[in-house]
Amino acid sequence: MAKQKQLYICNKCGSNFATWFGKCPQCGEWNTLELKSISTKTTSSSKQEQLFSPIPITQSFSQQEVYFSCGEKEVDLFLGGGLVKGGVYLLGGEPGIGKSTWLLQLAGLLASRGLKTLYLSGEESLLQVQSRGKRLGLASDNLYLFYSTKLEEALEVLETGFQIAVIDSVQTLTSSKLEGVAGTPSQIREVALELIGLAKAREITLFLVGHVTKEGLIAGPKLLEHMVDCVLYLEGDREHFFRLLRVNKNRFGPSNEVLVLEMLEQGLRVVADPSTFFLEGSNNLSGQALTLTLEGHKALAVEIQALVSSSFLAVPRRVAQGIDQNRLNLLVAVLEKRLKISLKDKDIYLKIGGGLSLKDPALDLAICVALLSSFYDQPLPENSIFWGEVDLNGQIRRVLGHDLRLKQARKLGYTNIFAPQEKLVSLEDVCEQLKF
Ligand SMILES: Nc1ncnc2c1ncn2[C@@H]1O[C@H](COP(=O)(O)OP(=O)(O)OP(=O)(O)O)[C@@H](O)[C@H]1O
Ligand SMILES: [Mg+2]
Repeated sequence: MAKQKQLYICNKCGSNFATWFGKCPQCGEWNTLELKSISTKTTSSSKQEQLFSPIPITQSFSQQEVYFSCGEKEVDLFLGGGLVKGGVYLLGGEPGIGKSTWLLQLAGLLASRGLKTLYLSGEESLLQVQSRGKRLGLASDNLYLFYSTKLEEALEVLETGFQIAVIDSVQTLTSSKLEGVAGTPSQIREVALELIGLAKAREITLFLVGHVTKEGLIAGPKLLEHMVDCVLYLEGDREHFFRLLRVNKNRFGPSNEVLVLEMLEQGLRVVADPSTFFLEGSNNLSGQALTLTLEGHKALAVEIQALVSSSFLAVPRRVAQGIDQNRLNLLVAVLEKRLKISLKDKDIYLKIGGGLSLKDPALDLAICVALLSSFYDQPLPENSIFWGEVDLNGQIRRVLGHDLRLKQARKLGYTNIFAPQEKLVSLEDVCEQLKF
């Protein structure tokens, strides 16, 4: 029988408590606990006891999170071992980047493994979802589609024995308990709270799609990210066919993993070995330098392309694609000052090959040598690769993940590795070795 219990629920992180606290013991926010009535018809009596009485820490040792495979090894590893029953996953990303595509594919994969899966769309009609499913080659009777923008309907459908559910998107559902229109912070909070509560009680693995704001954050209150177990972001450049799936938070595994995906007609395909995926048939011309950048635990080889040419403008151009413009300006200033070369009458263009946008400080050295190679119109030695952080005084520092990059560089067959180990190396020394 359904029973109503009164619980204090934190509106910041979603944790629940039997008594009121001024400061949430979970997230530390003040005055965020609100008294709510929850239905306990879904929890067994032993679970209710667990909710209200403390348990010894050792008890949890016998009840560790159990991962189950989604059917794709790379995705399992990326998530820290697999999916978790009752786990709540939030996927954010820019419009049109492929969120619905990836989740429909994943739903199809899970359904084909015998799990009763629901794909609830509040954005696209069932016909649109079906035609996408057809294009992706999904054909499992375990995958159910449902269109709704009402939270109550969604909850009712979810109660009918689903093991996996995708809600596309959390911004389109509205609760009739609240006045606001869909997508307002209070609606998002209510919708997410109810869905998460049900997912935990029924052990449904739940995926929520979240829109991102112009600043790149998941729209709605930040608390959405606190409430879920895992936050994923799908990123990429629409002009290029790759997508990067990142873990921003993961209660079940590491939170800095990256999965490289390729957008094909048949949907998103995992690039099993992305180590040289971003190299575009490198020809060893002047102005090109190779480097290794770290994404999670993967070292990816990328090409830095520089063009230094005479300028006919009063203020020469400085154009950077894929790295911050200020960083280019800074490195150009270091080169001018430390190597005593004049670049003030040169236009300078810099690009990361493959369409990647990177912040890794280890790229500094490759950027500098690519600029010098173009300036002197002299290609870099065959089979060479560069990484290191360049200081304002022209010294090059060892970077994080040096050993991982070194291992990968050797594995990829690079024989001329320019990267400081223990001691600082100066730009002058590197120029001398490269005969600039
Ligand atoms: N017929 C097709 N062949 C290949 N790729 C397609 C095809 N149709 C759509 N796509 C790709 O799928 C992308 C749209 O993906 P999707 O609808 O999954 O994105 P989304 O992140 O869910 O977007 P939104 O935020 O608008 O819901 C398009 O940008 C395009 O790259
Ligand atoms: Mg979509």
